[in-house]
Amino acid sequence: MLTKRDFVKKILKERKPVISGYAEKFAPSNIALCKYWGKRDTILNLPVTDSLSVSLGKWGTTTSIRISGEKEDRVIFNGRVLDKNSEFASKVLSFSNLLKPDPGISIEIRTENNIPTAAGSASSASGFAALTKALDAFFGYDLEEKELSLIAGLGSGSASRSIYSGFVRRNRGSAEDGTDSFSVKLPYIWKELRVGLVDITEDKKSVSSREGMEHTVKTSLLYRSWPDQAERDLSLILEGIKKKDFETLGRRAENNSMAMHACMLASDPPLLYWEPETVKTIKKVFSLRKEGMPLYLTMDAGANVKLLFEKETEEDVKENFPEIKIAVPFI
Ligand code: PMV
Repeated sequence: MLTKRDFVKKILKERKPVISGYAEKFAPSNIALCKYWGKRDTILNLPVTDSLSVSLGKWGTTTSIRISGEKEDRVIFNGRVLDKNSEFASKVLSFSNLLKPDPGISIEIRTENNIPTAAGSASSASGFAALTKALDAFFGYDLEEKELSLIAGLGSGSASRSIYSGFVRRNRGSAEDGTDSFSVKLPYIWKELRVGLVDITEDKKSVSSREGMEHTVKTSLLYRSWPDQAERDLSLILEGIKKKDFETLGRRAENNSMAMHACMLASDPPLLYWEPETVKTIKKVFSLRKEGMPLYLTMDAGANVKLLFEKETEEDVKENFPEIKIAVPFI
């Protein structure tokens, strides 16, 4: 098994860094329609299955890097200088050390999230993707997007997909060194597609997705069926995207997310991310759909719910979920 450092070395190969004075990059957040849940390599975050996501338009993370005037690296998050030993700063710094050509260089990393949710939905995806792009630009490696997606995946698996906008597929890959486990942008556009964020809680989840995945893979008998479920869902969702068949996309994405949560629930002890409000929201979506509204939902490892619908349903959705924030993936 490779270490993260060996993996990055392999990708950088003979690239010569050309350090610039300043670099700033944006990466969109994304929501998986076919989820990544479970790692085939827990160090490199290599997934057990392929996954497929759609990005959240202008919502995501902007990260800039400049030479720091101080001896040590600094991390500034949403305008606040962080203690370098805080969980967030140490994750950012250990990741950036992987790409530093010379440990003697001190940098200042400024990162801003504009996702209008307190819990910062999927911010690790856009965060590590923006950081990867900014580090690449600052150190002047000039990596290809495929390579950026491989490196961002070391930060968090879903970050590999946030290198691109639109529909993105991350390949599971089969190489032991992980170099074929990159993401690709799919050539489909769906201007009418909308993703609504229903905030249930602002609290940080008590079980991280890393811990949740490991626990599910180890203890859930239902997880044995997950690779088949994911494979079927991904191909049907892809068909739905190609044909712009919203019902297929919505049904399969919702079922995929429910199946992921079922696997978590069947782990021992059970893993339940939902709150009472989550269940209320799920039931509301079910009953609106019964009344004929083309509306589906998907959930990640947390209590918040994301709604999937099209532009023509936007006003009805707003009426029923007045607090909703709506992302337009294809602007
Ligand atoms: O990338 P991570 O480690 O935050 O895990 C993401 C897991 C899910 O959000 C539940 C699914 C996904 O594919 O994004």
